[in-house]
This record gives sequence, C-alpha cells and structure tokens, in this order.
Amino acid sequence: MSAAYASPPADEIAAVTLTDAAVEEAEFSQRVLIRSIIGRSDGGAGLSGATVRVGGWVKTGREQGKGSFAFLELNDGSCPANLQVIVDAAVAPLAQLVATGTCVHVEGLLKVPPEGTKQKIELRVQKVLDIGAVDPAKYPLPKTRLTLEFLRDYVHLRPRTNTISAIARIRNALAYATHTFFQKHGFLYIHTPIITTSDCEGAGEMFQVTTLINDAEKLETELIKNPPPSEADVEAAKLLVTEKGEAVAQLKSAKESKGKISAAVAELTKAKENFSKLEERFKLEPGIPKKDGKIDYSRDFFARQAFLTVSGQLQVETFACALSSVYTFGPTFRAEHSHTSRHLAEFWMVEPEIAFADIEDDMKCAEAYVKFLCQWLLDNCLDDMEFMVKNFDKSAIDRLRMVASTDFVRLSYTEAVAILEEASKERQFENKVEWGIDLASEHERYLTEVKFQSPVIVYNYPKGIKAFYMKVNADNKTVAAMDVLVPKVGELIGGSQREERYEVIKERILEMGLPLEPYEWYLDLRRYGTVKHSGFGLGFERMILFATGLENIRDVIPFPRYPGRADL
Ligand code: 4AD
Ligand code: MG
Repeated sequence: MSAAYASPPADEIAAVTLTDAAVEEAEFSQRVLIRSIIGRSDGGAGLSGATVRVGGWVKTGREQGKGSFAFLELNDGSCPANLQVIVDAAVAPLAQLVATGTCVHVEGLLKVPPEGTKQKIELRVQKVLDIGAVDPAKYPLPKTRLTLEFLRDYVHLRPRTNTISAIARIRNALAYATHTFFQKHGFLYIHTPIITTSDCEGAGEMFQVTTLINDAEKLETELIKNPPPSEADVEAAKLLVTEKGEAVAQLKSAKESKGKISAAVAELTKAKENFSKLEERFKLEPGIPKKDGKIDYSRDFFARQAFLTVSGQLQVETFACALSSVYTFGPTFRAEHSHTSRHLAEFWMVEPEIAFADIEDDMKCAEAYVKFLCQWLLDNCLDDMEFMVKNFDKSAIDRLRMVASTDFVRLSYTEAVAILEEASKERQFENKVEWGIDLASEHERYLTEVKFQSPVIVYNYPKGIKAFYMKVNADNKTVAAMDVLVPKVGELIGGSQREERYEVIKERILEMGLPLEPYEWYLDLRRYGTVKHSGFGLGFERMILFATGLENIRDVIPFPRYPGRADL
C-alpha cells in the first residue's frame, strides 16, 4: 500500500491545471472548505487533479512507510467528515504534523486514491503553509473517546470534538430555520431588551443587575487609601469659611480697593469649596447605600431595581400590538436552582407574538414551526444527524421524520389529568396526579412518550398555576395556555392567548400579589387599542436536545451556565 502513496512524479504535478476541475476558494479565507470537496454528490472524485489550499485541525495523524510520509485526517468544521491528507517527509517534518489537535494550512493536489480505500478523494500536499503545533503530552483532548462531562471542563477546546461541532452545526441550522420560518410568514424580528425592570413570569427567578456592589467595593478601597476627614477637620474647614466671610465683609465696609476685595472673595470661594468637599467625604459611608433600613435603589445605575430578562414576551407584545406579527429570539436568564438535565441559567428562547390570533392560531403556529424545524434538519443536516444516530440516539432521525409528518395530539389539561389518573392505577408516578397540579416532567413524558408516542399539545390549564398574562377562559377556572410536549424532552414550548381585557388582567396581577406599578406600561396596551393576541416561547436548547437525542442540555449550548458554573 505504501508504494501507492509515494509522492507523485514532478511532471504529473506540473500537468495539473485548475480548469474545469476547479473548486472555489472560500470567499473570505484562504482555503477551500472541506465540505465543498467531500460534500459533493461524487464525494469529491470529480475534483481529482485540482490544486487547492485547505486548512483544518488534525483529528488523527500517523506516520507511515517508515516515516516517509504521513496520513492526516483533517477537519475544518464545515462538515462532519474529514479530508484525508497525505504529506511526504520531503515536504515537511512529519512529527510536527501528526499530533491530534495540530492546525495545518496546506496546499496540494486532489487525487482519487488507489482502489480499495474508503475515501473518494484525498489531498497530496505540495506545500505546508502554516502549522499550529500541539504538544501531545499537554493537549487536554487526546484522541481517545472523551465523555461529554469531561468536555464540560474544556468549553474552550470542546468545539474541536466531533460531537460539539456537529451540535454547533445543528444549532446554527435551527437558528437559520427559525428566521426562515418566521420571515416566510411575514413576522418581524424584534430585539427585546436583556436588561429589564419587569418580571415576565412573576416567578421571582430573576438575576439582578446592579452596580451598587461594585460602587461599594470601590468606595471601600478608596476610603482605605484616602481615609475620610475627621469631624474636627470638617469643623476647622467650616470655621475658615466663617473667617474668610468676615474678612470680605470688613474689606467691603472699609470700602477697600476692588482688587483687595476680589482677592478676599477668591479665598472665601476656595474655603467654601474645600469645606463642601470635606463635608461630602465625611458623610461617605462604606457599604451598600440604604434608606429606611432598605437598599436605596435610587442610587443604583438605573435608579431602580433591574434584572436580566426571563422572557422577551412582555416587550415583544408592545410590537405585536402595533405591527401584528412579530418574534424575538434571544438569550433569557433564570436563577432557578434546578440541577436538571433540562434547565440552564442562561438559555435562548424563540418567542413569536401574533395579533388577531387566539389559542387555536397559536397552537397551529407552534406545530407548523416545530415541523418546519424537523424537516429543515432532515433536508440540510442529514450528515450531522447520522452522526447523532450512530453515536447517541438510534431513533433521532426517525423522531424528526415522525414529528415532521404527524399531526400533534391535542388535549385539554382536564383530559390529560384524567389520562394520568388512569395511568397511575398501573404505574407509580413520583408526583401525585390530581386536577390543579402543575404537570411534572414525568407526567409530560408519559403523555408524549408512552401514551401517544407523538408530540402532544396540552391546553387550558388551571389559572392558579399559570402566569398572570394568560387569557382567563369563560369557566373562570382555566386559562388559554398551551404547552407543547415532545418525546425525549417533555415541555418544549410554553405559550398562551394573552388576556386583552384591561379589568381582568389588572385583577389577575393583584390576585397574584404582584405590584401594579411595574406593569402600568403593559396595562396601557389594554387601555388603548387592545387586541386579541397570542404567542409562545420555544426553548431553543430543548429543541436541540430533542433533535440530537443528547441527554444533557449543558452540551447543546456553547457556553453553559448553571448553578456553580459560568466558564469563560
Ligand atoms: O414556559 P416558559 O416559562 O414560557 C415563557 O417564558 C413565556 N413568556 C413564553 C411566551 O409565551 N412568549 O418558557 C418557554 C420555554 C419552555 O417551554 C422551555 O422549553 C424553555 O422555555 N425553558 C427553559 N429552557 C432551558 N432552561 C430553563 N431553565 C428553561 N426554562 C424554560
Ligand atoms: Mg412553561
């Protein structure tokens, strides 16, 4: 075999031109994407004879033919597959190239490999342009199979692994599909704020945004460096002001020259300035400013309490109540202390909001959107999905197919509880089922995975367990809420028709023990030109979990944040 890989004769190289076989260089970087070579329907074979530059990181490398040449499996992230690269010892020092993790930028000739190899094309290197070397003794990600838990300690290097890079491509595809879906249906993309003063879910799970702590720390350091004046210093400064004032008065009554008087006035001004500076510093108190025993937020950056948003819904509603169909897609934050495989402290949410739409329209939109996402992955990410099937979840592709083509089951909360009560005769749920409870993850998963084996939309929840903004139904017991439950994940989407009646929503806010003041602007949307409207939030990482079949949400976001961890 080694003979077949001998360096090509010089005349063969010279004969190669970049004519018909040419493959285009990436527009903004000095190489051809590996995907544009091996992602072709012929696996790249038709490009044989082309000279190309490629760059990437070595997945595996080995010297062969008694060190006369080396095989490198090169990956540049453009697709899951690697390009096989062959480097002759005459071209570069092979030992520097073969370590896993090494970055190489090379130029060479694409050739169809000898019969019997699995590759359709390989690159014979003629020139090594750059090497980013790796010391294999120190590189934290050796070639051996690494667990996802282990990789969480290396969030800065884990994108180089097959799994994390496949997830990154799937995540990117889902983001693109999201914009495509909503743009196609005439929704406007609205950027809602990350810092907010209203608690959308009213659940008190918000991270606070404040500069009071930094300010207090700065002041403390400052006071140590430059201690405050004593009371005696302040008194002395005050006395000096009196003296200087008297001096000015005397000069004036003695009708002294203008020059003398203005010199004395200048001294008085200086004394006053000095006094007020000392007095101000004297009043400085270390620690966080308080008023009536409570933290004085009027001294905070925004002159009031502020938080990281838990949802862009309330703000995006302002645009829905003016521009009709809108959506927001951004990071959201929840200080939940839940150490589950389905919760993050920072996650991304897709939130459409539609005017002139009721709960039925909302459910239709949610179903169409989820189906669109599944079909998109089947159409655009099949190679990465195959990787998931092979390594993580045999049913991942079947699940996408099923969801893309099956009507979602719809049942009211009351029906869902009846089904669960029936089921609990035969199986033990950890959480007791009765009308009025918030469905637990085990209940949701029973409905979608066991009972229906399909996505399920549960609607009309008891009002006591849902947020204040949801439309109260005619029964006055339930609200027009809906959750989309999917196998593997449970709750993927939470949404509702919004309460558009001023009096009713005001009552609901008070009923829930929330203060009215922060929601006055929200109430304005009902006071003036109110409109029937609905929306939902899809947990973007939950969607990726569902698609990939991965077990832990911490592995599907580039930089996971959860209790005790916020790396980088
Ligand atoms: O059901 P939730 O709390 O709904 C809202 O926030 C609404 N304001 C959305 C709206 O109507 N515009 O959250 C929506 C979804 C959940 O169904 C779940 O998929 C996801 O967000 N989610 C989380 N994902 C990861 N980590 C967490 N801590 C999450 N909390 C909710
Ligand atoms: Mg929810």
